[in-house]
Parts: sequence; C-alpha cells; structure tokens
Amino acid sequence: MRIGIITGASSGMGREFVKRAVLDSPPCDELWLIARRKERLAVFPNLYKKQKFRLLSLDLSREEDLKVLAEKIDSLDKKDHVALFVHSAGFGLVGDIRDMSPEKQGEMVDLNCRSVAELTAMVLPHMEEGAGGRMIYMASAAAFLPQPGFALYAASKAFALSYVRSLRAENRGRGLRITAVCPGSVKTEFLDKALEGRSLPFYKKMVMADPVKVVAKAWKDNEKNRELSVYGIPIKATRLAAGIIPHAVFLRLMGSGKKKGPDR
Ligand SMILES: NC(=O)c1ccc[n+]([C@@H]2O[C@H](COP(=O)([O-])OP(=O)(O)OC[C@H]3O[C@@H](n4cnc5c(N)ncnc54)[C@H](OP(=O)(O)O)[C@@H]3O)[C@@H](O)[C@H]2O)c1
Repeated sequence: MRIGIITGASSGMGREFVKRAVLDSPPCDELWLIARRKERLAVFPNLYKKQKFRLLSLDLSREEDLKVLAEKIDSLDKKDHVALFVHSAGFGLVGDIRDMSPEKQGEMVDLNCRSVAELTAMVLPHMEEGAGGRMIYMASAAAFLPQPGFALYAASKAFALSYVRSLRAENRGRGLRITAVCPGSVKTEFLDKALEGRSLPFYKKMVMADPVKVVAKAWKDNEKNRELSVYGIPIKATRLAAGIIPHAVFLRLMGSGKKKGPDR
C-alpha cells in the first residue's frame, strides 16, 4: 500500500497539498491527514469519496501526540510505503523576543523544529525508494535572513531549511525527491494568527501570494526534485540579496518588528 502523510491539512497550504495529492497519478492508496481541528479534516472524505483517508487529530507540538503517530507509522506493514510526506504544520508570532512568553517560544520550536526532525526520523525508513518517494517541507522566505520582531519564527524556518538541505544530501541516490518550500507572505490563516491584530506593511500586502499558486509550484518543483521552491520574483530577489548583502545591513534596516512588521 502507498501512503501519503500530510500535516497542517486543516488549513491554508496543507489543505491545498491534500487536493494535489488526491488528484495525483498514481494516487496514494491512503492519505493520512494531520492537524488538531478534526472537524476541518472531516470535509475531505465527503469531498473525495473514492480516496481513502485516515484523519488524525494530533497536536504535533506535544510529545504524547508525536508518540501516537510514531506508533502508527511503526505498525505499518513491510509492504506499505510512504510515497508522499508533506510537513506543512507550523505557526509564527510577531513580536520582540522579550515580549513573548517562554511557553509560546517553546511551542513554536516544538512544532516548527522538533516535529520536523521527529517526523522525518519516523517516516524516512518507510519512504518509497527508487520510485521517487516525495518529501515536501514548508520552510519560508524568513529562513533567508534573521528578522528582528519575528526572530524565533525566522530562526525556526532557517532550521527547517538547513535540515532539509542536509537530508537531501544524505539521501542522494535513494531515489527520493526532497524539497524545502520558501514562500514570502501567503494569504492564509497564518498571517491573522501571527499578526495578532497588527497590520501587515503595505509592501508585503503587495507581494501577497495565493496559496493555490504557491502549492502548485511547490508540487511541480518537488516532482522535478528541486531542492528549493521559491514562489514569485520579489521573493527570488530577496533570496538573492540575502546571499550577497551582509545580514548586518539588513538587520540595521529592519530594526524592531513592532515598528516594521515581519518579512515572511
Ligand atoms: N502564510 C504564510 O505567509 C507563510 C509563509 C511562509 C511559510 N509559511 C509556512 O507554511 C506552513 C503552512 O502555513 P499556512 O500559511 O498554510 O498556515 P495555516 O493556514 O495557519 O495552516 C497551518 C496548519 O498547521 C496546523 N497546525 C498548527 N499548529 C499545529 C499543531 N500544534 N499540531 C498540529 N498541527 C498544527 C494547523 O491546523 P490546526 O490548527 O487544525 O492544528 C493548520 O492546518 C507553515 O509551516 C508556515 O510556517 C506560511
């Protein structure tokens, strides 16, 4: 049996990845959809009656819930393979480090970093080798630069990007396709949660991307086994600039996130 596992499937880009996976050819025999809000996941079996789903209401920032998932993956039959793994669950919060509670910071690291590592370790031995088993990770353009006012989120995505790049290198020759997706601002629930009532700077609103398009590009880039998927010219330019201009210059220009807001 070929299995697809998609985290963050209840919303935004994760939801778009589910739609892509259902329409993929050949389709996965079973799609495991993971998020905390099960009622949001429950729409998929009604929407796609021919696709088999397993809905898992799990909080991936909690050790107990990671264990539940590890047990389910461990109990896979030897004939079963993970053909698709998409890790889209993640969150960010705008604000200076000193203003954010230690608990919230820990939760962000647990979800954006720890779950990346633990889930990868769980699925990697079961990945479909040779036939191009697919692994897609939502990092962010925030991974390209440190960001005052969005520091922990940017650092967590830098972790994800670095981790995925090494994962690719370590698994070269196994016939896997592994991609880190690094968009700028995308129109999903993410921004409302991250901004907590603050407004997004106008230049970020101007480059706001459509989640359908970001995921369509990510899907294609992963099909071609590209290391990175970067949507849109402004974000490609940001990546280029971040590779050339010393980060100290950006840090001076950016100042505090309270005044200027984040750069996703
Ligand atoms: N939108 C942007 O501007 C943007 C830009 C660059 C990168 N990204 C990254 O892209 C990914 C997807 O974000 P999105 O824009 O699609 O945001 P979104 O609409 O807020 O979706 C986030 C998903 O993560 C799930 N999630 C959050 N906390 C979780 C937890 N503790 N355990 C399990 N699942 C959890 C949410 O489901 P439940 O709440 O139901 O658990 C939801 O399905 C994230 O990793 C984000 O950092 C977003």
